[in-house]
Amino acid sequence: MSFRDDVLAGLGARPRAIPARWFYDRTGSELFELITELPEYYPTRAETAILEAAADEVAALVGPGRAVIEFGSGASTKTRVLLRRVRPPVYVPIDISGDFLREAARGLAGEFPGVEVVPFEADFTMAMTLPDVVADSPKLGFFPGSTIGNLEPAGAVDLLRAMRGSLGEGAMLLIGMDRVKDAGVLTAAYDDAAGVTARFNLNLLERINRELDGDLAVDAFRHLARWNAGAARIEMHLEAVRDVGFTVAGKAFGMAAGETIHTENSHKYTDDAARLLLRAGGWEPVAEWTDPDALFAVLLAEARVVRPAP
Ligand code: AVI
Repeated sequence: MSFRDDVLAGLGARPRAIPARWFYDRTGSELFELITELPEYYPTRAETAILEAAADEVAALVGPGRAVIEFGSGASTKTRVLLRRVRPPVYVPIDISGDFLREAARGLAGEFPGVEVVPFEADFTMAMTLPDVVADSPKLGFFPGSTIGNLEPAGAVDLLRAMRGSLGEGAMLLIGMDRVKDAGVLTAAYDDAAGVTARFNLNLLERINRELDGDLAVDAFRHLARWNAGAARIEMHLEAVRDVGFTVAGKAFGMAAGETIHTENSHKYTDDAARLLLRAGGWEPVAEWTDPDALFAVLLAEARVVRPAP
């Protein structure tokens, strides 16, 4: 669905919800980069430390000559850690935000002259055909950041299966998955003292105003982050702080004070849940690493060959 269709359907539905992928316009992508540096937002630091410690082992397990396909912008230190050790012939970063992707790709191409960098603008939650240059190479998918957690379990399984389909037989997948932990640590990571995550969440309203001819009063909303223990996820919402009426793309909406628009889920995983999800998605875990505080996990999996079950 387009941004317009998702926003109009999401504002009309009960409960109101807009898919989290629409956070990432240019401003949203930049705000997300700032989030990754926040003291409260541990996932990026923990995952980078894991990759730094495990990269030689990862390189040995995946072997030489695999093209690396990254699902996400590829702007990060994590990508550099991986490319430095795995040294793939081709690196394909895939992202929905084209400008940001091309800039990030230019930077990486300069730093890794031996690696052909082929940015690919696409929504990787949909089925896709990868660029021809990697058609015949064995592949390593790289899906860091626990972005898988932004999907509901059924959607996460579909995405893992789609990745398996796009990456092909014999592929491997290196995936970051955030772990279930103390609720205070989790909520602080999504409601930082500097208010960057609040700006990231509220930017969605600004994007609606900019791109869909909206007239939402952004100051009529506040950022909410809460731990839903039953579903093992952090939820982000935009809560109306007063009764508010607005139009988007010519359609009128009203919200009473206290009503929310659900804007993101960020699922967290126990060890067992992480492995079960991978298997359900057609991937067999072969190795797993965590940081000393067990905040975050990185798993290496291989495309499962489906055999008849007993
Ligand atoms: C991209 N994704 C994995 C982030 C997360 O932690 O769920 C997005 C994010 N939302 C708020 N802070 C970070």
